[in-house]
Parts: sequence; C-alpha cells; structure tokens
Amino acid sequence: MAVETQAIEALLKENRSFPPPEDFAQQANLNDPEIYTRAAEDPEAFWADVARGLDWFRPWEQVLHWEVPFAKWFVGGKLNACYNCVDRHVRTARRNKAAIIWEGENGESRVLTYWDLYREVNRFASVLREHFGIRKGDRVCIYMPMVPELPIAMLACARIGAVHTVVFGGFSAESLKERINDCQCRLVITADGGYRRGTVIPLKRSVDEALQECPSVEGVVVVRRLGLGLTDATFTHMQEVRDHWWHRVIEDVSPRSDCEEMDSEDLLFILYTSGSTGKPKGIVHTTGGYLTGVYATTKWVFDLKEEDVFWCTADCGWVTGHSYLVYGPLANGATIVMYEGAPDFPDRDRFWAICEKYGVTVFYTAPTAIRAFMKWGTEHVEKHDLSTLRLIGSVGEPINPEAWMWYHQNIGGGRCPVVDTWWQTETGHILISPLPGITTTRPGSATFPLPGIEADVVDEAGQSVPLGGGGYLVLKRPWPGMLRGLYGDPERYREVYWSRYGTMYFAGDGAKRDEDGYFWLLGRVDDVMNVAGHRISTMEVESALVDHPAVAEAAVIGKHHELKGQAIAAFVTVKDGFKAGTELQDELKEHVVKKIGAISRPDDIIFTSELPKTRSGKIMRRLLRDIAEGRALGDTTTLADPNVVAMLRERYEEEGG
Ligand code: WT7
Repeated sequence: MAVETQAIEALLKENRSFPPPEDFAQQANLNDPEIYTRAAEDPEAFWADVARGLDWFRPWEQVLHWEVPFAKWFVGGKLNACYNCVDRHVRTARRNKAAIIWEGENGESRVLTYWDLYREVNRFASVLREHFGIRKGDRVCIYMPMVPELPIAMLACARIGAVHTVVFGGFSAESLKERINDCQCRLVITADGGYRRGTVIPLKRSVDEALQECPSVEGVVVVRRLGLGLTDATFTHMQEVRDHWWHRVIEDVSPRSDCEEMDSEDLLFILYTSGSTGKPKGIVHTTGGYLTGVYATTKWVFDLKEEDVFWCTADCGWVTGHSYLVYGPLANGATIVMYEGAPDFPDRDRFWAICEKYGVTVFYTAPTAIRAFMKWGTEHVEKHDLSTLRLIGSVGEPINPEAWMWYHQNIGGGRCPVVDTWWQTETGHILISPLPGITTTRPGSATFPLPGIEADVVDEAGQSVPLGGGGYLVLKRPWPGMLRGLYGDPERYREVYWSRYGTMYFAGDGAKRDEDGYFWLLGRVDDVMNVAGHRISTMEVESALVDHPAVAEAAVIGKHHELKGQAIAAFVTVKDGFKAGTELQDELKEHVVKKIGAISRPDDIIFTSELPKTRSGKIMRRLLRDIAEGRALGDTTTLADPNVVAMLRERYEEEGG
C-alpha cells in the first residue's frame, strides 16, 4: 500500500490527465467532439434526434415547451416506458438475451432473459389491474429488497401507467408512512424481508407498522424472499383481505396485459429525497423526457454495447437505481447485473467475485465504496480476474483524486476510462461527465457538461464566474429528464430551485472551473449532508432528535469523514430532569434510526447547555463544523455569547470525535 500511495502522490503532483485510450476511442459510441457544437447550436433538434432512438406510439408536435420553471418535452408524443424497456426487445434477437443477472447475498443466482422479463412484467401488470383495480395515474409504493421482483414491479407500474414511488428498504416504518401518505398510494409492494450482511431485514413488519396510519392503502403484495424456515425474526403475518403473496396472485390473472398509451408528460414516478427542510420532497419525473435522457446518457457515458454486462451497484431505492439499473440500460436492451447485499459479505472481495463470475464489462459505484475498498487493501481485488472490465464510473459525491487514482489503477487496471458523473435525483440523468471516447479526464473532476446541457458557475448575484474561480453550479437551459416539480407543491418547487436566480436552475452545489474549463464539484452549499453517498437533511435529523422527550434543542452538521465523506454530528441540549450521558447518547441515536432509518444514525452526540447563536437567535452551524472538525474557529464576532463555543470545544474534545 505504501508504495502505491507514493505513486499516486507523484502522479498528482504531475497534474495528471488521462486521454481516452486510442483503441477505446476508436470503438466508442461517441468519438467525434463535434457533437458538443452540434448540440449547442440547436439543442432542441439535437434532443429530438436522440428521442427518435425510442419507440413512440405517436410522434410529438413540439420538442420543448418552456415556461420558466415548467418544462414540457416532446409535447403531444405518446409512448410507454415499459414498452421501450421490454416489449420492443422481445421482437428482436434480444428476446433470448439476459436482461437481468441477479445474485442474492446468500449466493443464489437467477437470470432473466428479455422474454422472461416480458412474461413476468405482463403477469404482474395483470395483477395490478385485475386483482387490485389499479389504473393509470394511481400511486403505488414499492418497498423491497434488491430482488428481480423490484424492477419487475417498477416496469409493471409503468406498463399500466401507475406512478411508482420506490422507498429504499433501509428507511424506517415512519419514513415509509410519511411517503405513502404524501402521495396517497393505493397499494404497497414489499417482501417478507431481505438479506443484508447476513442478517434479515424484516420489511413486511415495517410495512405493517406504517400501514396503521395509511388510510389510502387498500392492498399489499408480498414477495416471499425468506422462504419457509420461519423463526420469530422472519415470521410474516398476513392480514386477511389486505395482504397477498406475490406467487399466489400471479397465478390467476391474464398472462398478457397491454401497454397503456402514455402522454410524454404523464407521470412515470415520484422519488422522495431530502431537502433543507424537515420534510422530504417528492421529486416528480414524467415519461418522454426522462426516458430520452436516461436512454441517451447510458449509451454515451457508459458507452454501452450489445455485448456489455453492466453493473450499477446502487439500490433501486435511489435515483441511480432507477436511471442506471432499470430504465437507462433496459431501454438500450443491455444486460444488467443486480446484487442484493453488502460488498463485504461473506468477504471483502464480494464485488470482485461477482465481476469475475459474470464477466462484468462496465462497473458503476460510489466514492464511499471506493474508499472502503482502498482501506481494505488490494489483496481482495487481486484474488479475481477483472480483465473483462473496460469502463468504470463513479457517482454520488465528489471523488477525491487519491480514490480516483486507486480506482483507475486497481480496479480499472490502468486501462479503463473513469467516468465521474455529476447529477441529482432532480436532474433525472447524468448532466456533467466525461464522454469516455472523447474527454481527457482529470482525477477529481467531473469534466464537462454533456452535449445539449448548459451549466455555469455563478456568484451570489448570478454573474458567471470567470474560469479559475468558484461559485454556485447552475443549469441555464432545460434538459429532457429534469424534474417537473415537487409532488403537490408547485410553490416549493419554485422556491427551492428557481427563486435564487430566476431563469437558472439552482442545483445546491458549489463548483469551480479550472483554467481549462473543467468542472470540479465541491459539495452541497445548503443544509444537506452527503453521508456515504446518501443525501440527508440536517433539519430532518434535528426534528427526529427534538422529537425525543429528553431533547430541548438540537443542531446537526456534517463533519468530514475519511470513508463516508461526511459523518453526522449532533449538538444537543437536554431538558431539565434528564441525565446527559452515554446511555442517553445511545438512546438518541436509536431514536433517529427509528424515526428516519439506519442511514441517518448520528456518529457523535455532544451534549451542551447552550448552542452558539447569533444575537438574532440563529444557530451558527459554521462554528459547530469548525468545532467538530477541530479547526480554528472562524469569525465569532456575531455570537451572542462567545463563551458558549469555548465550552463546546472542551466538551467535544472530551466526549465527541
Ligand atoms: C447530490 C445529489 C445522482 C445520483 C446519486 C445522488 C452530489 C452526485 C456527484 C459527483 C460531486 C456529486 C451532489 C448532488 N453528487 N454526484 N459526481 N461529484 N458531487 O443523488 O441523492 O439526489 O444527490 O449528490 O451534491 O447535488 P442525490
């Protein structure tokens, strides 16, 4: 390891850049840089060209209708996302091609060809229609482990025009309930449980708990994942009338179910994500633009070819799973790998064992995982033949150059282009990324906006910052996959993304451009943390903490963490009569887990008799961050009581960190 690090440092000093390998560029889907100018000259014609790669039941009349901040793409066009991901392929030689290669954490494996997928999706679409009376526009919640029934359920919803909202299986019953109620789901699709690091996650139990307060839900479909070996931990209670086993309900329905003809702007899905307030936002995506965006970017950024085996390690509960595990690759007729469990189960080489076993050619993961692999050491990688890999990608947070270099050398064998892809739940698809056959990459930079995308770095006033400077990342023209709003809340949509700069989309990220125009993303500029690639709102964690009877006040910040990018630190004042101590620390951590989910568990809880506030009563998070990261304090002149921080720092050194 020591030698490798030295090598990386030397490379960094040299200010390394990586042009596309010549043989790669020659065969790449895109290798003509002209595409950027062509797209910039007439973006609408450019995107229309791209959209013609999908199958439309009826062509659009207008490419873009833009009334800030509301975009409509491919106006009047009719299509179906499921048709594009499944039906159109079974009419070609792809009929017998593997669509989904699935591996369970316990080593089980299933392969579904496009024909298998077609059959399963048809049947489940019939279940939705015939058994539950689900119709176009109804909302359906999916809360499942990473099993093939998850994408099957998503595609079946798309097939009949139902709007799915997938909730990550790591979220608590309470978070699930909040999401179901926000968009009034009629049905919940779940499983008895899933496996994670060798233990059972009892999903159906969380569903039962959530549904005590979800009056809109009429039915529940349950996939049997755990089998019949019932123990107390796995026993699944089925409520009569409401609950149905998946394997039973698919038996007595029609084997075929037609694709609903969807308008380009009909809703495809809602996906909840954290914002800077306590309440998660329901990001709304529609059909035509979203599918065009994910279809094209999968082909360009991952250079996807007929013979590729594409593994995106994200869970379907996040947007990365929606766009690059399901809709993007399947719209391209690709073969995907889907894995249920943890990267270190049973051993730390699990990912590389999977890559070798299925001959993965394109691999897409998050920097937090890469940093864990680095720490675990190369011996786990070296056990496996990774020579089938030809392209590797990163997403979710800024990738530090050291991790980029390690990834490039040890996973990519020095030969695979690395694509660092910037995007968001809101953007629907990748917007800033190298094109692997064209772009010369620089470790740590997401490089340039894709063709047809216009991004800029601006100052507070919205003025473009000259090359070499930093500011806020904005998008200056609409793109096909952009969110169409926040479910049921057009005002909040305007306020969050458009109130700052009027006609430019405010992403909430800091960015700088170097002298050559490369974009370097610098992380969130709002009260959103990025913990192990997961987006978590400081306010949401604060609300969970003050919900506990012992807590008077709480302030939460993200502090730097070597592996996770950021870790959660909470400063808490306790009500009279409660004892601040390790017992309460543990209790508060568990309370947050129960309210939100395990991804939001605070690393540090620091008790204090007061929080540092300005004279107007605003908590000074910046100072809390300085304290948590052990830095010299920034400007403290606006503090109401300067003694508070000195005391806090002492406390932190004693208890926290
Ligand atoms: C936020 C969006 C997009 C899928 C996964 C996360 C950060 C994402 C990068 C990157 C630097 C990145 C941003 C963004 N982010 N990708 N390549 N480089 N930062 O989706 O949960 O909606 O989070 O993730 O801060 O705003 P998300």
